[in-house]
Amino acid sequence: MLILGIESSCDETAAAVVANGTVVRSNVIASQVATHRRYGGVVPEIASREHLEKIDEVVTEALALAGVTISEIDGIAVTQGPGLVGSLLVGINYAKGLAFAAGKPFVGVNHIEGHVCSVAFEFPPPEYPALALVVSGGHTNLFLIPEPERYKLVGRTRDDAAGEAFDKVSKLIGLGYPGGPVIDRLAAQGDRRAIIFPLAEIKDPEHSLDFSFSGLKTAVLRHVRECGIPPVADPANPSGEIVDLCASFQNAAVRALVRSLRKAAEIHHPRTILLAGGVACNSELRAGVRELAARLAVPVFIPSPIYTTDNAAMIAAAGYPKLLRGECSPWDMSAEVSWRLQNVDVETVRKKARYRL
Ligand code: KG4
Ligand code: ZN
Repeated sequence: MLILGIESSCDETAAAVVANGTVVRSNVIASQVATHRRYGGVVPEIASREHLEKIDEVVTEALALAGVTISEIDGIAVTQGPGLVGSLLVGINYAKGLAFAAGKPFVGVNHIEGHVCSVAFEFPPPEYPALALVVSGGHTNLFLIPEPERYKLVGRTRDDAAGEAFDKVSKLIGLGYPGGPVIDRLAAQGDRRAIIFPLAEIKDPEHSLDFSFSGLKTAVLRHVRECGIPPVADPANPSGEIVDLCASFQNAAVRALVRSLRKAAEIHHPRTILLAGGVACNSELRAGVRELAARLAVPVFIPSPIYTTDNAAMIAAAGYPKLLRGECSPWDMSAEVSWRLQNVDVETVRKKARYRL
């Protein structure tokens, strides 16, 4: 079964062709990072306009690279939410238009479920229950997955997402947007023990797996002010105190993520651990999660960076089981800007697709 995936929830316009939910035939991503960088973050209005300009060529290229025409596609999966409303609508409306014109079924997919499914291309099917840590610019969620397409949210951020914390700290010290890749690079040159940032403690025992990153961000801000650290003038030549700050901040963020993952694993005894989302590109987090999994003797699936950041192959993979069983979203489907993937079972997803959209 050949699925065309379309993703436009934030600042990447992406399309991909995936066979049987696992084999990537093409994966085209037009990033808007260069456009948004000068504003220090994603500007929603500009993002939707750029999606509109790019979507047709991105989809056309994805089909061409896969060596297929739209008539050979069996179904279209498109990100329905969560995300920026204007951006989501560009992908949704394009997908609907294409589906209608070509007489193909289309299905709306949860972006976070897409991230979870990004492990589908380089690993065997996970063994269940699985534990998935999804860490991106907009989300930090820990899911227990008892079986495919069932998600129990066991931990989430109380404030900033992990990627957001990287982006805010980066902005604060003059390293620009997006913060994750540059902090990751500079941290490798610094001393992670130079500044010991304490980890947030979630007092509520019912939510002991939750995360909180705003205190860490404030601690970085305080440190910068107290030590009078000037913003970085040239990222190619950072000072010793900046690289130490990057290394110490990154270490604190990674320790917090791995700590909850460890606690969750001790409670839920997963048979596979999955790490996904843009922050899963982080070298220290990848190493930390691998080390934890080795200690627990649980297989760990961490996709290549091209699949952990936003892409449409993961959306096609998430849409595959739905299209395979004949699920189809209605023509009046709309964006679900804050669609939560939480305790959702197949039936709820189906109902949601019918009533809301
Ligand atoms: O999944 P993604 O592409 O988009 C969202 O759905 O948000 O994630 C983007 C986020 C940004 O916050 C970016 O700073 C972060 O992922 N990121 C990283 C790294 N690469 C990207 N964070 C830490 N270390 C990295 N190497
Ligand atoms: Zn994402």
